[in-house]
Amino acid sequence: MSELGPVPLNELQLTAWGERVGALIDVPAVLALRGELGAGKSVFARAVARGAGVHGPLPSPTFNLVFVYQGARGVDVYHLDLYRLEHSAEVWELGWRELGDGPEIVLIEWPERAEALLPEDRWDIYLEKPGSGSGSGSDSDVRVVRAVRRGEAPELPRP
Ligand SMILES: Nc1ncnc2c1ncn2[C@@H]1O[C@H](COP(=O)(O)OP(=O)(O)OP(=O)(O)O)[C@@H](O)[C@H]1O
Ligand SMILES: [Mg+2]
Repeated sequence: MSELGPVPLNELQLTAWGERVGALIDVPAVLALRGELGAGKSVFARAVARGAGVHGPLPSPTFNLVFVYQGARGVDVYHLDLYRLEHSAEVWELGWRELGDGPEIVLIEWPERAEALLPEDRWDIYLEKPGSGSGSGSDSDVRVVRAVRRGEAPELPRP
C-alpha cells in the first residue's frame, strides 16, 4: 500500500488513528507531518507517542527542537519540530544522522525545513484543513488526511 486516504477525520478520529499507529507500526518508522499552522501535526504526534506507550505530559517542542520519549516494546519516540530551523544543516546538531536507524518512531513537524535531508524510507502525512471560505463552518473541526509511502517505510495502519 503506497497511499492511504484522503479521508476526513475529526480530532477524536485523528487521535485514535495516531494511537493505533504508535501501537502497531514496525520500527524504525519515520513520519513526516505536513500541514499549515494548527493543522494538527502536534495532536497527531502526541497520539502516536501515547499509542507507543509514552506516559506523562507531552510538551509541544516549540523551543526545543527535539524531544525523546521512552515507549513500550523498547521503542523510543523522537518528536521533532523544525519550524524554527534557519538552515537545514542545523539538524546535524540534533543527532539527525542516527535518526530512524534504531528501534524508534521519528515524528517530524515542518519537515520542509530539511526536505533534502529527510530519510528516504518514510511516510509523508498530509493534514489539511478543508477549503476555508466556503462558509460551511461545521467542517472546521475536520482535517483531510492523506499518507504517502516513500521508499521502504513499514506498513501504516489505515486511518
Ligand atoms: N480534526 C482535527 N485534528 C486535529 N486537530 C484538530 C482537529 N480539529 C480541530 N483541531 C484543533 O486544531 C489544533 C491543532 O493544533 P496542533 O498544535 O496540533 O497543530 P500543528 O499542526 O502542530 O501546528 P504548528 O505548526 O503550530 O505546530 C488544536 O487546537 C486542535 O484542538
Ligand atoms: Mg505543532
